[in-house]
Amino acid sequence: MYGNFKIKENPIILGIESSCDETAAAVIYGRKLLSSVIISSATEQAKYGGVVPEIASRAHTEAVDEAVERALTQAGIRLEELDAVAVTYGAGLLGALLVGLSFAKSLAYSLNIPLIAVNHIRGHLAASYLCDETLEPPYITLLASGGHTAILYTKNYTEFEVLGGTSDDAAGEAFDKVARILGLPYPGGPNIQRLAENGNPVIPFPQALVKNTCKLQFSYSGLKTAVINYCHNAEQKGGKINPADVAASFQRSAIEPLVKKTVECAVSRGADTVTAGGGVAANDYLRTALASACSKAGLKLILPEKKFCTDNAAMIAAEGLIQYRTGNFADMSINACARIALK
Ligand code: KG4
Ligand code: ZN
Repeated sequence: MYGNFKIKENPIILGIESSCDETAAAVIYGRKLLSSVIISSATEQAKYGGVVPEIASRAHTEAVDEAVERALTQAGIRLEELDAVAVTYGAGLLGALLVGLSFAKSLAYSLNIPLIAVNHIRGHLAASYLCDETLEPPYITLLASGGHTAILYTKNYTEFEVLGGTSDDAAGEAFDKVARILGLPYPGGPNIQRLAENGNPVIPFPQALVKNTCKLQFSYSGLKTAVINYCHNAEQKGGKINPADVAASFQRSAIEPLVKKTVECAVSRGADTVTAGGGVAANDYLRTALASACSKAGLKLILPEKKFCTDNAAMIAAEGLIQYRTGNFADMSINACARIALK
């Protein structure tokens, strides 16, 4: 019979992530990261200009076994030594999620260990716990991924408050759309960053922030439209744009408000620590600006390495540990969810 688990203070947890185009597996022991493996189908997806769900599901099916085996080998852990399996159950591409979830279910069932269902976004937030083992709530987080942009106040290990969000696109989505406008290949964010390194932020695009409102709200649609108009106007006048300047100017307008508001939230909440997560937190301009703003404000910044900001399984295992400690285990009937609200 499945159940009746032995609960440990510092469990060994296998994390599995397959919500988009990265098949990932990782092993943690308590809050110590033992291994992290990512097999990406991004190069294959780039041929089609974005993630094709069918290709993603097939790629996960081919890679999930190898990712788990490599994660266990790198960690020096045998299957029988695992205390729990944590897996992303949403949000993401349904077919892609089901590959990781089904694999994790089989493993948990056959080893008779807890199955932990992890919300991908909570995983992004938990990544910081692995890069600083002393991190404890409360703290402020800047979350910026392909699907979310928000500033959060984490009260304790399981509860957070949303202090502000976006009224339209997420920051990563805006990077991807502007990359397409500039003819850059998928994935857009890192390519915009690379191009921006050779440009100057001289074009006065609007900041990605809703002004004259008492709520903290970011907005990327106005900025995106301004970039489109700038490029079209230049084309109609028979002139040429400098793509590197467009990329640098867009990047500054997209990121400056995120950094400024994150620090303001920390100060107004009296939090002394700031963390960041999600793919856009891998952006060098953001990392430098946030580090400098936090240092000026006397705030401690915990910034996960870039490979733990973009999708990975270490963050899923880290959130798995939080749920393990509260005894929040899933049963075998759990299904994948394409959408899960941030709150
Ligand atoms: O967190 P993530 O890997 O997946 C989601 O959960 O959405 O974030 C992916 C997003 C994409 O939109 C990608 O373009 C963006 O993060 N991204 C970046 C960078 N690396 C990834 N955006 C700006 N600069 C980067 N270096
Ligand atoms: Zn993600």
